[in-house]
Amino acid sequence: MSVVRSTVTGCGSFLPDNVLTNDDLARQVDTSDEWIVQRTGIKQRHVAAEGQVTSDLALEAAQRALENAGRKAEDIDTIILATATPDNTFPATSVTVQAKLGITHGFAFDVQAVCSGFVYAMTTADAYIRSGISERCLVIGAETFSRILDWEDRTTCVLFGDGAGAVVLEKTEGSGTNADRGVLTSHLRSDGRHKDKLFVDGGPSSTQTVGHLRMEGREVFKHAVGMITDVIEDAYEATGLSSEDLDWFVPHQANKRIIDASAKKLGIAPEKVVTTVQLHGNTSAASIPLALDTALKDGRVKNNDLVMLEAMGGGFTWGSVLLRW
Ligand code: UT7
Repeated sequence: MSVVRSTVTGCGSFLPDNVLTNDDLARQVDTSDEWIVQRTGIKQRHVAAEGQVTSDLALEAAQRALENAGRKAEDIDTIILATATPDNTFPATSVTVQAKLGITHGFAFDVQAVCSGFVYAMTTADAYIRSGISERCLVIGAETFSRILDWEDRTTCVLFGDGAGAVVLEKTEGSGTNADRGVLTSHLRSDGRHKDKLFVDGGPSSTQTVGHLRMEGREVFKHAVGMITDVIEDAYEATGLSSEDLDWFVPHQANKRIIDASAKKLGIAPEKVVTTVQLHGNTSAASIPLALDTALKDGRVKNNDLVMLEAMGGGFTWGSVLLRW
């Protein structure tokens, strides 16, 4: 039986030049390289230059993804950009990227699911492709979290970074089995009862300010591993696949301890885990495509590999996408 699948045909990423190390931060707030590395695994993060906005990072990542896919901008009919740090309250940052790419057909919109944004955007693009609305999507995760951090709050400012990643997701034909390339299954969840555990204390309708990120880190940590493993088990149940079948586990990069504990609980071998949090910090919606691009460019992820993506973040939102590359 022939079925429609959505297959990744190209990937790209972009990081701003400016690198902020843990030692740099220790000169600004009461922290240390030792504390940050021990609690999070993070050693450095990238920070956007003055005037460099989310759409600038997104555009670079999108252009690299298009090049990697051997596609031109005009081949794209849909842009879905996941971000919690848009250039402006509106219009959507994706339409700025659309204009900068010179695309005047199709449509573009943003997805807001904070750190789970890329998983939500991939799931949305896959659904649009399988329903016949779209044929070739640019799925982007791009963030400038440096703009919403309270740089005097050591409990949050050491954790996040800026960056962008993108994939080209295209309509392909499959046989309807797990051997197909493309997205095999995806599972999204949210539970707004947790919205005050990780939020931004401003917004157009409430304070008319942008606000700063606030987090009860220990509370987020407490829920993270259980939520992540739940949606991955949903993917296993839907496909009959298991951790042993995975070639790569590409989790949202928030904290090495959360990544390691999730992999351990699921029985995923450490050598299958792609970890970039040490270099990028938590780049929210950008972290998964940044990690994917790293593992693609260093030769780890290859065509036909089975790849599990997962994320959990503010809301809480969480989700998994299982795909064959
Ligand atoms: O993308 C998804 C969203 N985010 C996350 O997934 C983050 C989830 N949470 C975490 O990763 C961890 O909870 C943190 C890394 C944020 C914190 O690690 P923790 O082991 O949960 O530490 P803690 O919050 O329990 O704090 C331990 C101590 C506290 O001091 P006292 O009360 O024990 O005296 C903090 O004040 O560490 C102190 N502390 C710091 N010390 C040095 C907090 N931040 C820092 C810091 N440097 N930057």
